[in-house]
Amino acid sequence: TGESRPPPEPVSTWNIAHRGASAYAPESTLPAFEWGARMGSDFIELDVQMTRDGHLVALHDKQVDRTTDGRGPIHRYTLSQLKKLDAAAWFGQKHPRRWKSSFRGATVPTLEEVFQRLGNRIGYCLEIKKSSAGPQLERKLLQLLKQHRLVETSESQRVLIQSFDSDSLRRIHRKAPDLPLIQLIHFKNIGSLSHRRLKRTKEYADGIGLSYRRINRKRIHRAHRHGLRILAYTVNRKPVMRRLVRWKVDGICTNYPDRLHQVLQQT
Ligand code: G3P
Ligand code: CA
Repeated sequence: TGESRPPPEPVSTWNIAHRGASAYAPESTLPAFEWGARMGSDFIELDVQMTRDGHLVALHDKQVDRTTDGRGPIHRYTLSQLKKLDAAAWFGQKHPRRWKSSFRGATVPTLEEVFQRLGNRIGYCLEIKKSSAGPQLERKLLQLLKQHRLVETSESQRVLIQSFDSDSLRRIHRKAPDLPLIQLIHFKNIGSLSHRRLKRTKEYADGIGLSYRRINRKRIHRAHRHGLRILAYTVNRKPVMRRLVRWKVDGICTNYPDRLHQVLQQT
């Protein structure tokens, strides 16, 4: 299927703000996403999770402990319980010099809030975690994307869905074949990235996402020969960004979208 649909060449390496501009603002909150947009990102990256009462929210960890003042797994919280948690204060404690009063009161945002706030100012790179993946979450996500007119072909470039879970991506591909999907490949499972593996990936995905430590020229060339984009996560140092841009990687996920923006302007 995918074989007949090579991905269009991006004009330049995509700048993808990892959990928003997460070096500068509390990760996965509206301020972090706003900063990502202001710092010249093409996409904001976020991890999708579901509350006990079925709302989709942006949160990286399975537990709320690290990035909020709450305790326990996200799936035990209803949205109204979750909304009572503070998702910014930890950042002020950890990075007092980066604290801004505008962060105060930030909560775990629903995807709905993110789409409403940022609209089509920016693209969305949405990750479905293996642990939270499941047909129910996928169904709700597709429904929400449709409501916000983010799955229409002309606009499909505005949304990427990525996951380490190939079953989840295959299910999404069956339901929304035009939605660009990125198969994330774990640092430890890189194996040989054989032609056979890439051919199978191309059946449902438009690209692969690898740790930058696993990316070299040969792998970029190999992915491109299969019509797959190749995205690098998570790159925070300019020399590495420069090298990857020179090698024509298709996208870079970073906590410092401003640094990547500068690198891209210089090349
Ligand atoms: O872009 C891939 C990257 O987001 C995967 O790592 O742990 O930050 O979700 P993680
Ligand atoms: Ca992620």
